[in-house]
Amino acid sequence: MESYYVTTPIYYVNDEPHLGHMYTTIAADVLARYQRMSSRDVFFLTGVDEHGQKVEQAAEARGIAPIELADQVVARYKSLWPELGISNDDFIRTSSDRHKAGVQAMWRRLENAGTIYKDFYEDWYCVPCETYWTETQLKDAECWDSKHCPDCKREVEKIQEESYFFRLSAFQEQLLEHIHANPDFIAPLSRRNEVISFVESGLRDLSVSRTTFSWGVPVPGDEKHVIYVWIDALTNYLSALGFPDQEQPEHWPADVHLIGKDILRFHAIYWPCMLMAAGLPLPKRIYAHGWWTVEGEKMSKSKGNALRPADLLAEYHADVLRYFLLREVPFGQDGDFSFSALKQRYNSELANDVGNLLNRSLSMLTKYNGGVLADVGEESDSDRALIADVEAMQRDVAELMEKQAFHLVLDRINVVVRHGNRYVEDNAPWALAKAGDTARLNSVLYHLVETLRLVAVQLSPFMPEKMNQMLSQIYSEDVSATSFTFIEHGGWGLLKAGHQCAKAQPVFPRMDA
Ligand code: ME8
Ligand code: MG
Repeated sequence: MESYYVTTPIYYVNDEPHLGHMYTTIAADVLARYQRMSSRDVFFLTGVDEHGQKVEQAAEARGIAPIELADQVVARYKSLWPELGISNDDFIRTSSDRHKAGVQAMWRRLENAGTIYKDFYEDWYCVPCETYWTETQLKDAECWDSKHCPDCKREVEKIQEESYFFRLSAFQEQLLEHIHANPDFIAPLSRRNEVISFVESGLRDLSVSRTTFSWGVPVPGDEKHVIYVWIDALTNYLSALGFPDQEQPEHWPADVHLIGKDILRFHAIYWPCMLMAAGLPLPKRIYAHGWWTVEGEKMSKSKGNALRPADLLAEYHADVLRYFLLREVPFGQDGDFSFSALKQRYNSELANDVGNLLNRSLSMLTKYNGGVLADVGEESDSDRALIADVEAMQRDVAELMEKQAFHLVLDRINVVVRHGNRYVEDNAPWALAKAGDTARLNSVLYHLVETLRLVAVQLSPFMPEKMNQMLSQIYSEDVSATSFTFIEHGGWGLLKAGHQCAKAQPVFPRMDA
């Protein structure tokens, strides 16, 4: 089976999970589910980033050890993901022995390749952003007089210490060549361009160790140094696969690293250069999606407006949140979360379109033929157009999924749903029943049920539970599309004459506006 490896960032444990973390993880889950249904050997990884000064300080502020803080937040993530239908195959913690072994092995590889050297380091450091700034950068950003971070505007600290460096500068040309030779390597295009111009402006060597805190992975052979958090964190994508025990880890290289645009530089520059230095293949794709605001405002701890998963889940079904997040905003662009937009989209696309098509189709089948599908007679033009649309949808979805264009996937599926509703109006089954045209009536009902079934199969990666409910009515037994493959369940005509469907049960009841 062809492998498919998809990852999320590993999230910091100094913050509680919020809407932003849900977003990336749901997107990765949709890819994982879709590729499993496409018969690929999927490995879907998420996890947490536990080390670093921020976590050390956050733990200290609460009077607990860093590992205790980490354990608390890990417990939250581990209970949250199943509630959101996240089907990750593994969960990596950077405090685990398997991960530390991977990081130290990565370090030795970089060292053996002659890309690590010791020097002195003097710079400005923003703790919240974990970003180093040179004097010039601060001056350029007019942040020099008051010594604050150009990004977050908080105070920067002067750093002067012995440090190991990674020869990032040595890989500038090789990285540019790779980016140019692989147009799909960094997505979307705007981010790719951003990376290219950053690399072209010149890469500085990277300070990759610290002696100022201890909550991290020690540098092998020089234990007073801790390995810089980003070398530590990025290596999770390999350590989770059993690197270094597995020289060529199964599933590597990753098919896609999904990340937010905030950590683009680390993934699209540092990580590929580290891998080139270590002699390991580069990931096939890095997709940096956009940023969510909430009701027009940036989510922040100080505003206290970060949307917490528990609050959202108390109000909305996980699948409705999954659908909304991937449908509302073109993946790659920034977006705004608002409850009114969620309700509007739910009512128009899920309640009115999908839900209505299911209800009316199964209700008519029950009313006119006891829920039993009958033989399809001669196909009409409108039947053929509907089947062609369903089959084109399946091909389009497959292509769009390779590009992580989730909003277009849902758009395309909705086209078929609206086509189905139009088909009902055009063929007016109630009139056929009245006229006693049973053959044609049965044929129309058959086409409706098959369309619904194939729509539900395609929507299943997005809304696994809701689509199981829908498919269970159609198959009239409890089914789980999670175990379906497109090969087995994706073909038109699977349901045969004589198949009994269940009565319609509402899957998407209308919400009050
Ligand atoms: O950066 N909109 O962890 P982190 C969209 N540990 N996505 C958002 C978001 C928002 N408002 N807020 C957060 C780290 N995210 C490092 C990563 S990886 C080797 C190490 C999502 O907890 C988005 O995926 O700050 C972003 O990249 C990630 O959370 C940052 O999570
Ligand atoms: Mg962050």
